[in-house]
Amino acid sequence: MMNLFDLTGEVAVVIGATGVLGGAVAEGLGLAGAQVAVVGRNAERGEACANRIAQAGGTARFFAADAIQRDSLRAAHRDIEKALGTPTILVNAAGGNDPKVTVTAEHSFEQIALDDWKANFDLNLVGGVLLPCQEFGPGMVARRRGSIVNFASVSAHLPLSRVVAYSASKAAVLSLTQFLAREWARQGVRVNSLTPGFFPAEQNRRLLFKEDGTPTPRAQSILDHTPMARFGEARELVGAALFLASVKASSFVTGTDLRVDGGFLSQTI
Ligand SMILES: NC(=O)c1ccc[n+]([C@@H]2O[C@H](COP(=O)([O-])OP(=O)(O)OC[C@H]3O[C@@H](n4cnc5c(N)ncnc54)[C@H](OP(=O)(O)O)[C@@H]3O)[C@@H](O)[C@H]2O)c1
Repeated sequence: MMNLFDLTGEVAVVIGATGVLGGAVAEGLGLAGAQVAVVGRNAERGEACANRIAQAGGTARFFAADAIQRDSLRAAHRDIEKALGTPTILVNAAGGNDPKVTVTAEHSFEQIALDDWKANFDLNLVGGVLLPCQEFGPGMVARRRGSIVNFASVSAHLPLSRVVAYSASKAAVLSLTQFLAREWARQGVRVNSLTPGFFPAEQNRRLLFKEDGTPTPRAQSILDHTPMARFGEARELVGAALFLASVKASSFVTGTDLRVDGGFLSQTI
């Protein structure tokens, strides 16, 4: 029987593969046979991710790019085409919350500065999805072959307290995903999103853990609200990402959002 998750012959660009979740997905794609372009700003973490994939028998290279700068993405795209070929898979994992746009007892909603709000939208929506799709989408459309996986959040579905700009920008990620799914459906390009629940990573460390490593009251309340009563581990996202990335596994799936959240969004009381 055909291996539904075999990605041999695919070229996968993973933006934010320098981070915890993007890195795990990049490794999963590499082990499934795709050639992987590990993209981000941090060269040390990017090279380390590419090396892990190579050591496991895959093919990967790090390409430095700032996702919110069109020119920077374009330069990385040129290098990726030369080194690996035309991308057929794009995973948009760059993103995160920013304490400057987080509501706290000392920093109210009304005090959020417009520039800080815009910067968080730039990260999660513009660099997180818009510019990479504008940069890599047309090559996929031209070849009539492609899968794009955008990272959303549980906060895109119903906004969590405090993380107001993050929630609004991730809700916009769902909308843009569905827009592009419809736009490119007849041109062989599928566009879906992945909603991770709570996975300890760099961008949320301060919200989840105190300096001594114990959970913050917010983390405890997240765990109390998660039917599986635990955080996710990055490797637990890989199967869902492979499913959406692989045309053999999900050829009729576009415009959907796949939740990997331990049941968080199914919980009420
Ligand atoms: N962890 C969770 O619980 C969780 C839950 C829901 C959704 N998510 C989403 O999952 C995605 C990955 O986050 P993570 O949790 O793995 O956090 P992370 O480890 O902090 O990774 C964030 C990534 O974003 C990249 N990034 C930030 N600004 C960038 C820019 N201008 N250009 C290119 N890359 C940039 C960072 O790379 P460089 O520093 O190298 O640029 C890093 O690789 C994000 O979209 C996040 O919102 C995470």
